[in-house]
Amino acid sequence: MSRIAYVNGQYLPHREAAVHFEDRGYQFSDGVYEVVAVRDGQLVDLEPHFERLEYSLGELGIDAPVSRKVLSMIFDEVIKRNRVTNGIIYLQITRGVAPRDHGFPKAARPAMVVSARNMPSKDHLRQSGVAVITVPDQRWKRRDIKTVSLLPNIMAKQQAVEAGAYEALQVDDDGTVTEGTATNAWIVTDKGELVTRKTDHSILSGITRLAAKALAASAQLKLVERPFTVEEAKSAREAFLTSTTSNVMPIIRIDDVEINGGEPGPITMRLGELYETHAAGV
Ligand code: PDD
Repeated sequence: MSRIAYVNGQYLPHREAAVHFEDRGYQFSDGVYEVVAVRDGQLVDLEPHFERLEYSLGELGIDAPVSRKVLSMIFDEVIKRNRVTNGIIYLQITRGVAPRDHGFPKAARPAMVVSARNMPSKDHLRQSGVAVITVPDQRWKRRDIKTVSLLPNIMAKQQAVEAGAYEALQVDDDGTVTEGTATNAWIVTDKGELVTRKTDHSILSGITRLAAKALAASAQLKLVERPFTVEEAKSAREAFLTSTTSNVMPIIRIDDVEINGGEPGPITMRLGELYETHAAGV
């Protein structure tokens, strides 16, 4: 079965699904994206993803090419045509095609691409927990915008891959952890409090983070939104990551320091179970 992508109004086999060489996403990273999980054929937390998409587009002054309603119909069609049951939808919207010039073009129409694929389950990793490394955060000052400009993220992730780790925690100049390369970062303190950075321009406001916050509140877990240092993370009782593709992922090692004796912690596992139920929509 050939995979199908939506490209600017057409559903095309991947080999024909191309964008123009003067697309500003290609030349300037002038675009935004979303990754939405598909669980048993259903999209997880679609509305908050739409909200964040509209926020990112608004911050860059790119018009939404279609309404939420039309976008959700396109998502359903791409899921169906690719027979996706458990996986992801990828959406990318760029400012469109125009002769290369740094200033925004007047006439360009936003360009939109949607693809979808099944993904292997990460349940085994959520059971075992994962190792992470720490790296300097080399990104710009508007990490709240979900832009396709991901060079520092992919370089940091590659460092993690080469170190045999699952993810890299990015660390700001002041020694505090911002977030992973494609995940938000959390710790659990000695007092059993959940700690994650507050959402401002320094991190992406993760949709999984948002859901985890609500689930933590429903389970009467105490949550504090504040920055934490690498040292604090290394001596934390538990640590974990959240994202659309990782869900709630226990961290069992940071650099060469074991967390919770190298085992996923109980509060992390509890939150993970709540998240799985939430994502399954039951
Ligand atoms: N990344 N922080 C960054 C830098 C991210 O790229 C992501 C998501 C997150 C978590 O956000 P969410 O819970 O909405 O997935 C945090 C996606 C999955 C990606 O780039 O593939």
